[in-house]
Amino acid sequence: MLSRRARLVLAGGATVALLAPPAWMCARSFAPPTYSVMGMGRVDFGGGPALGGHLGHTDDRWVGPARRPGDVSVADLTGPRDVRPDVSTTLVARKGPVTLATGEKVDGYSLNGSSPGPPIRARQGDVVQVRLVNANIAEGTTLHWHGVDVPNAEDGVAGVTQNAVPAGRSHVYRFVAEDAGTYWYHSHQISSEQVRDGLWGTLVVEPRGRSTYATDVVAPVHSYGGLRTVAGRTGEYRVPARPGTTARVRVIDTDNGPLRLWAGGGYRVLAVDGRDVHRPTPVHGKSVVVGAGGRVDLEVAVPASGDAVRVELGGGSAVVVGPAGSSVRRTPEPSQRLDLLSYGSPAKDDLRTAKPDRVFDYRVGRRPGFINGKPGMYWSINGRLFPDVPMYVVAEGDIVRMKIHNGSGEAHPMHLHGHHALVLSRNGVPASGSEWWVDSLNVQNGESYEVAFRADNPGLWMDHCHNLPHVNEGLMAHLMYAGVYGPYRIGDAAGSHNKPE
Ligand code: C2O
Ligand code: CU
Repeated sequence: MLSRRARLVLAGGATVALLAPPAWMCARSFAPPTYSVMGMGRVDFGGGPALGGHLGHTDDRWVGPARRPGDVSVADLTGPRDVRPDVSTTLVARKGPVTLATGEKVDGYSLNGSSPGPPIRARQGDVVQVRLVNANIAEGTTLHWHGVDVPNAEDGVAGVTQNAVPAGRSHVYRFVAEDAGTYWYHSHQISSEQVRDGLWGTLVVEPRGRSTYATDVVAPVHSYGGLRTVAGRTGEYRVPARPGTTARVRVIDTDNGPLRLWAGGGYRVLAVDGRDVHRPTPVHGKSVVVGAGGRVDLEVAVPASGDAVRVELGGGSAVVVGPAGSSVRRTPEPSQRLDLLSYGSPAKDDLRTAKPDRVFDYRVGRRPGFINGKPGMYWSINGRLFPDVPMYVVAEGDIVRMKIHNGSGEAHPMHLHGHHALVLSRNGVPASGSEWWVDSLNVQNGESYEVAFRADNPGLWMDHCHNLPHVNEGLMAHLMYAGVYGPYRIGDAAGSHNKPE
């Protein structure tokens, strides 16, 4: 028998043994008040050679590489500065009540008095200039060009590629619209709130040459609280078109969850995430899924009969294209889904077979732990919680493969900034259709994707989930190029309060 005293000592020891690891984990979970994302997380070279300036070991939290002679600063990775822009606009961001195009009042954010902000249209090759003015947003704001692979300094990520623009100040973005396609723009400061409440708009880059579509519709879907809108309007979005013509409908998912779309008379998928599908075939009796942040361009035929065609966007929302006064019946949602893995036919991009220089894992899970001292269930990356997430390091010119696995119990729309990635396989099944390029990939629970990209855009890039509240719950990592130095800081810096999302 143990004495009472011995039992007390043992019990005390057991308590310490039980509480010490959580206490240590809790203490470790705090991010410093100000830090460079360059020093966040664990350096991962993806099995490739270690790169100069980066510490080669794995537990180097908050110790980013020092700036070395010859390093280029993120601040210098800008778009063209000394040429005349082809498209130039000023967007004034304001916090306060907004009236939607259909008259409903919402309390949130506007750009030039409306939400969504003014649609931007450019032609491939155009120099686009946008001056962002922050009228009154105390927390600061920025604009990110979602899906446009801009030079790093134009990417609009507060604390990573610029400081958040304080109230009363402005910032000029400039980039060449190199790739035709459907994109959107949105704030990248406190984005889970600012985007949700209206700080966003659409951006379309038209191809060189003439369009083959009589009607070109931009149909962003967004929910303002319980108000589901298409192109900023509640209810049906009606677009006039002549009978017997074809229309291109550009659907953009600006919400946090996935969308399913379909059209009564069938459709073709012309593009995904701003990249053309090669040889798209007609689709009947299937819906196509667009993940948060993603885009799908559909081709639909306006019937010669004088009726309209209806693109169903789920939740009762629809785009109705046809002559004035025309009608069309709703079509119920098909039970089958189009699989983009085998849709269209391959154009044969050599990235499909190219030998990778680095192979990274991005495994999303969920586990209990602490973030900034707060206990909870959080998203994990490769088994660890923010800020112990991977820092994927590449050299310019590398061919990179990323294995994305989702074992977290929920879907995650994964978004890599600055690059388009080619889907190679899903759950071990190789892609067999058109090249499927993504910047936002909806990864369902239990799925594994292998994607590849060319490291051809030096900088410091976010790679995160586009269900924006998930970013606050830790689902965010970065891709960084060797030889690039990030001068910005998360936290309070240069009069800005840069938040890590
Ligand atoms: Cu559309 Cu990092 O965002
Ligand atoms: Cu997520």
